[in-house]
Amino acid sequence: MRREHPTAVARPLEQSSAGRAAAVAHPNIALIKYWGKRDERLVLPWTDSLSMTLDIFPTTTRVRLDPEAGHDEARLNGVPATGEARRRITAFLELVRDMAGLPQRAVVDTRNTVPTGAGLASSASGFAALAVAAAAAYGLDLDATALSRLARRGSGSASRSVFGGFALWHAGRDTGTATDTDLSSYAEPVPAADIAPALVIAVVDAGPKAVSSREAMRRTVDTSPLYQPWAASSKDDLADMRAALRRGDLEAVGEIAERNALGMHATMLAARPAVRYLSSATVTVLDSVLQLRRDGVPAYATMDAGPNVKVLCRRADAERVAEAVRSAVPESLVLIAGPGHGARLLNEGG
Ligand code: DP6
Repeated sequence: MRREHPTAVARPLEQSSAGRAAAVAHPNIALIKYWGKRDERLVLPWTDSLSMTLDIFPTTTRVRLDPEAGHDEARLNGVPATGEARRRITAFLELVRDMAGLPQRAVVDTRNTVPTGAGLASSASGFAALAVAAAAAYGLDLDATALSRLARRGSGSASRSVFGGFALWHAGRDTGTATDTDLSSYAEPVPAADIAPALVIAVVDAGPKAVSSREAMRRTVDTSPLYQPWAASSKDDLADMRAALRRGDLEAVGEIAERNALGMHATMLAARPAVRYLSSATVTVLDSVLQLRRDGVPAYATMDAGPNVKVLCRRADAERVAEAVRSAVPESLVLIAGPGHGARLLNEGG
């Protein structure tokens, strides 16, 4: 059974209450990781990646054009954005303005419910929501593929949050022209049998990370002798993952996801200097996942650019898995997520 996840399409300016729009998007967790860019400006990855969009921690973003303003204004959870966050939002709005041929600056209001910097990729839901809201506010009529390409320019993983369920982000082809290359890199939904999955998320550390994923990725690509072998094996992982999803084999999906994630962390550990996101609490959760498997519960771990662990399991086993993880790391926040919807416009009537 295939699940349908509706995806928003931006509406022309007249329909988006003249220069304002709001959108919501959810984070996604990669089962085949994106790690490493071949083009930083266009946010083009070395490898394809595949993720599951979640049904928790939505980001809601409102964009309003302000013809009087001399610069963009962005608020994150009510606090004016500064530094890198502000720079990334402004650069993104520049792109949208270029596409729309409109000069007006914008006021952006973003509400995140995911703990920022906790390795749960608030940039994915954030830029997916911003892409959908900004495209609508600036009157761009973009289909889901174009929205995914646009979201990608904000943050690579955001290209996948445009879609619900499982999404595959194509690395794209290098044809020699930047425009072609840019066009061929987008995410799309992946055919999957209903594996009734859940992700048990162990937030072992909610603080900001010491090294940003952007910097860690760059360092890994530039210095890790394990990067190229991992990127090559990730191709095989993706082919195996697609087949496992098609036949609805949750155990294979989990095994492939776990080996791909551990491989990604191995590339970072071999970088110079090493990037180590995994903490002792991470390893404690990994041990509890192994114990669950020994006890006959299919449970598989994946980790991103942080110490938190996401455990893929059957929805029917989620409470048991969460209990096992909670007793392994009692001081941690443990949450259960399921597959969520793609980014969509909110009908707020302006
Ligand atoms: C480890 O999408 O946050 O979560 O493109 O530089 O913004 P930028 O990176 P980002 O990287 C996510 C990396 C990851 C793996 C993944 O989500 O595929």
